[in-house]
Amino acid sequence: MIKLDYENCMTKKIGKEGISIRELENYYKKFSKIHSTIIKKSQDKDIPLGWLYLPFNQHIDKILDLAKSLRWKYDNFVVVGIGGSALGNIALQTALKDKNWNNLTTKHRAGWLRLFVLDNVDPTTMKSFLENIDIKRTIINVISKAGNTVESLATFFILYDKLVKNVGKKNANKQIIISTDREKGYLRELANKGLCRESFVVPSNVGGRFSVLSSVGLVSAACTGVDIKELLSGAKNMAMKCGVKEDIVENHKIKHINPAYIFATINHIFYKKEKKLCVMMPYSDQLYSFSDWFRQLWAESLGKAKDVNGKIINVGPTPIKALGVTDQHSQIQLYREGPNDKIIVFLSVDKHTVNGKSVEIKIPHLDKKLFADHYLFGLTLNKLIKSEEHGTRVSLTQANRPNMTISFPQINENTVGEFIYMLELATAYAGEMFNINAFDQPGVELGKNYTYALLGRKGFEKYLKELKICFK
Ligand code: PA5
Repeated sequence: MIKLDYENCMTKKIGKEGISIRELENYYKKFSKIHSTIIKKSQDKDIPLGWLYLPFNQHIDKILDLAKSLRWKYDNFVVVGIGGSALGNIALQTALKDKNWNNLTTKHRAGWLRLFVLDNVDPTTMKSFLENIDIKRTIINVISKAGNTVESLATFFILYDKLVKNVGKKNANKQIIISTDREKGYLRELANKGLCRESFVVPSNVGGRFSVLSSVGLVSAACTGVDIKELLSGAKNMAMKCGVKEDIVENHKIKHINPAYIFATINHIFYKKEKKLCVMMPYSDQLYSFSDWFRQLWAESLGKAKDVNGKIINVGPTPIKALGVTDQHSQIQLYREGPNDKIIVFLSVDKHTVNGKSVEIKIPHLDKKLFADHYLFGLTLNKLIKSEEHGTRVSLTQANRPNMTISFPQINENTVGEFIYMLELATAYAGEMFNINAFDQPGVELGKNYTYALLGRKGFEKYLKELKICFK
């Protein structure tokens, strides 16, 4: 399983900048209460904690059948969605498929589909996409929990139009998959009209940024050949380790503190010590998109104006993404010598693999006459990236900069499933520690309303007046 090492956050390692054992123990005393509050809340259908049980109660047969029926028949799978309806899809693809996946031949992809995710509404990206995609060989999966999200609908309308122009109205539906709420929203209306070959339900008790292990993330993953059973099984292992399904107390004693709780605890303690920035820094290109996914999860869940009682508190740690080793040549100077206001979370990979097989790239011995005898000759990139990671860790620790490491024995469906679940649960625990509602996003709404007003959507005229006052 993945492991969390937080030694370099402790006073023993980084002196007064760190956390004392006593501080940790004070949080551990609260574990049982915080954990059971979350489990209790998850029984309330109005609180979106349904993601806690996704690894246990999902029926994935329909997804697997769909993936089988599309394999070898289509070339491209396009996800149209944004935020929680896109970032998990990108992260799974980046972590679990070849970096060059979309350029591989059908044979090399074993008939599985290429993946494109259209989240932003940049006209130049869209122009290039429309000019280059073979729409006749393309499946479009429009994903929106709300079913009305403006960016996703706009992109879907453009793609639908192109599809109809190329294959006709009747055939177009065979290439559309809709993932949305069971009952509500515009997309559900389209699905009910039969405008798709298949529709999937985004469970109402699973919030967008917690939905990667629902149909939202699983459909596109299955269609590109990701083993979604293993992904869920990894998540389930983490859920079991965290005591989501069983009693965490035995003979009046807590069995063990779980890594999700430790992650939340350390972040919360440092936040109170004015270290409010959390940098996620994978030493792996494959895990880089998970920093984006984490950024949304952490920021949108924990950045809140009010506490649960309505008192204004304006809290929230700021998640930042960085990449090892690339950002050693860009960010590390600041992280080591600038303000000591961050915690660095390294994502570390023990064994680099492709399709389960170990990958090692040797630096060759070159012609001595031309290159002399260079110390790099005969080493491997594996050794280089590990040494750089370790060097950075030590240099930060020496400067009393808190850092922790999440280690992956290797990157595969299992470990990725564990990682996703651990951070989702950590977010829920952190929400309790900050005493906020981690599952809403009221701050996103006002900007949306102004946009609707500018676009002429009915019912939003009042916002035009406010816009005029701002831009006299
Ligand atoms: O976490 C969230 O709720 C949001 O970031 C949503 O995922 C995002 O706004 C997209 O929403 P929807 O899936 O309803 O289109």
